[in-house]
Amino acid sequence: MGRDEPIDINGPEAIAGMRRVGVMAAALLDVVGRWVRPGVSTLEINQVCEKWTREHGGVSAPLGYRGYPKSLCTSVNDVVCHGIPSAKAVLREGDIVNLDVTPKLDGWHGDTSATYYVGSKISPEAKLVTETSRECLALGIAQVREGAYVGDIGAAIQALAEGRGLSVVREFCGHGINRIFHCGPSVPHYGRRGEGPRLKAGMIFTIEPMINTGTWRTKILKDGWTAITSDGGLSAQFEHTLLVTANGVEILTDPAKVKGSEFDPGDLRGTPYDPDRG
Ligand code: MF3
Ligand code: CO
Ligand code: CO
Repeated sequence: MGRDEPIDINGPEAIAGMRRVGVMAAALLDVVGRWVRPGVSTLEINQVCEKWTREHGGVSAPLGYRGYPKSLCTSVNDVVCHGIPSAKAVLREGDIVNLDVTPKLDGWHGDTSATYYVGSKISPEAKLVTETSRECLALGIAQVREGAYVGDIGAAIQALAEGRGLSVVREFCGHGINRIFHCGPSVPHYGRRGEGPRLKAGMIFTIEPMINTGTWRTKILKDGWTAITSDGGLSAQFEHTLLVTANGVEILTDPAKVKGSEFDPGDLRGTPYDPDRG
């Protein structure tokens, strides 16, 4: 898969391109996230994703990637990742859904995802797995600094999730990203402190923990993409694209960078991206 290849140290030009697409990805996730509500199909969300991306000068990296048929991944309840948007997948009250976007701009990729609550009647179990996955990403990011080890990230995440009786998916990991969607390093969300490659300024990779209520084991549906929990338990995920800096870490897909940027979606009322339009 190329994820254990030598790890790129990205220079100023790459960092500039990755900063720009990172903000774009964060803005796009905001736009699609506003569509999450009961009665909306994941295909409608796909259409919003594709249109907004093109109108902002980018392309959807997932579309056609290794044969993937849609523009983002939409993973509902027991779907761990790579759920394929569909008219049949209509969001229902009480569901949790991860939206994972990867716009490509001038050849650079920005990869970010979040899990959303559909409606307001969310089970305690769904809240636990979602909030733990959110905290796991934050704790993973907090490990990132020059000289730390890739294994420090997974060790911290695993301890937090398993300490709450939840499990960490093994088959899917964070990854290096730049002009290449998935490259080295592979970033497992489990493991041991002090293991794996050492982090250096200029490395860019994702952290994207998938946390399950039951077993960490997954299976792939016959569509060749959709990964589900093998026991039917719930799964939640959050993802950011990160740059290792001399001082620590920069979250390239930080939603705090969107406001006032060239990609600021602002108030969507009256735009084609307004979920409440007439
Ligand atoms: N965005 C996913 C990730 O975090 C990758 C999706 S690949 C696709 O790595 F082909 F399924 F879109
Ligand atoms: Co990713
Ligand atoms: Co992603």
